[in-house]
Amino acid sequence: MTNTLFSPVHVGTLDLPSRLVMAPMTRNRTPGQAPNTLNAEYYGQRAGAGLIVTEGTTPDASGRGYIDIPGLYAPGHVEGWRKVAGAVHARGGHIFVQLMHTGRVSRPDFLDGGQPVGPSAVKAEGEIFTFEGMKPYVEPRALDTSEIAPLAETYGRAARLAREAGLDGVEIHGANGYLPSQFLAPNANTRTDEWGGSVENRARFLLAATDYAIAAIGADRVGVRLSPGGKFNDIDDPDAEATFAYVAGELAKRKLAYLHIFDTKPGFDVAALIRTHYKGTLILNGGYDLTRANADIGSGLADLVAFGVPYLANPDLPERLREGAPLNAPDTATFYGGAAKGYTDYPMRLAA
Ligand SMILES: Cc1cc2nc3c(=O)[nH]c(=O)nc-3n(C[C@H](O)[C@H](O)[C@H](O)COP(=O)(O)O)c2cc1C
Repeated sequence: MTNTLFSPVHVGTLDLPSRLVMAPMTRNRTPGQAPNTLNAEYYGQRAGAGLIVTEGTTPDASGRGYIDIPGLYAPGHVEGWRKVAGAVHARGGHIFVQLMHTGRVSRPDFLDGGQPVGPSAVKAEGEIFTFEGMKPYVEPRALDTSEIAPLAETYGRAARLAREAGLDGVEIHGANGYLPSQFLAPNANTRTDEWGGSVENRARFLLAATDYAIAAIGADRVGVRLSPGGKFNDIDDPDAEATFAYVAGELAKRKLAYLHIFDTKPGFDVAALIRTHYKGTLILNGGYDLTRANADIGSGLADLVAFGVPYLANPDLPERLREGAPLNAPDTATFYGGAAKGYTDYPMRLAA
């Protein structure tokens, strides 16, 4: 029988009722970095997903790169995440927390005046929204060789804290030009030690972070997100196909819960490349609607499909898609920051 978006699926340790995933989305509504009751309400409203992947959450104080993003490195953070996990589980949902270290695309504004760190002292082109409006990125401090493994280990610590908080697992954010993606990219990583140069060396940080998380909580509770060929945050890899073929092959050996691909249509067939090198559970994301999701799941290209903006604007997205009901329009003005408006007040068709 052909699978659809609404076919159940086994992912890692979890039996999911559908293949519909809520994509990770930064919402900048966690002042103090410990998730609050409003955050718990937001995720609880979206518990009808097969799996929720939370917004990017820093595993270490040095990875704070945006206003009011959550953390997972201090006891208060664990208590906050416990509220979120409780709200989702009370409604029968499942939730992985995305671990995002922003690396060079931070600013002293978010680091108590400190300099962001990166694989090399290469400034990203572009600007970032701060408490005082848009400001350019700064030159990061190149990490010393001795600092790199301990930084990768913070992903393991965060994974352990995630389980303490009752979350079902973690997703390592290896996409979109954040720290692991900076290590992968030759234009951001010009190191000459074992963490730079060859593809094996450039992939070492992502794989180390993944392995620390696996050692902490088991491979069946760890996912990884990649955006092969993506250029967000000033990333450029002239041979992205070779880089991501290697990375996908290495991840395949680790028997992860899943690999999550954000396909930014970089000019090569991302899904086909990854499927060739990765036979495990695969989540695809990027501009999906129901028809395309069913087609890609039906053909076996994807095992699950993640929805970003449609989920942000429709807390009851699974019911709406199932019934062919119209969708709420997203309000882009309230994507990043603010309070309940554009966050927990999108209308639902049926009382939750
Ligand atoms: C408001 C917003 C915040 C986002 N934050 C993150 C994030 O924290 N981590 C991440 O991996 N992707 C993030 N993304 C990308 C989404 O996960 C997703 O890849 C993108 O929206 C494309 O999927 P869609 O076409 O279904 O919206 C964000 C997207 C949006 C719109």
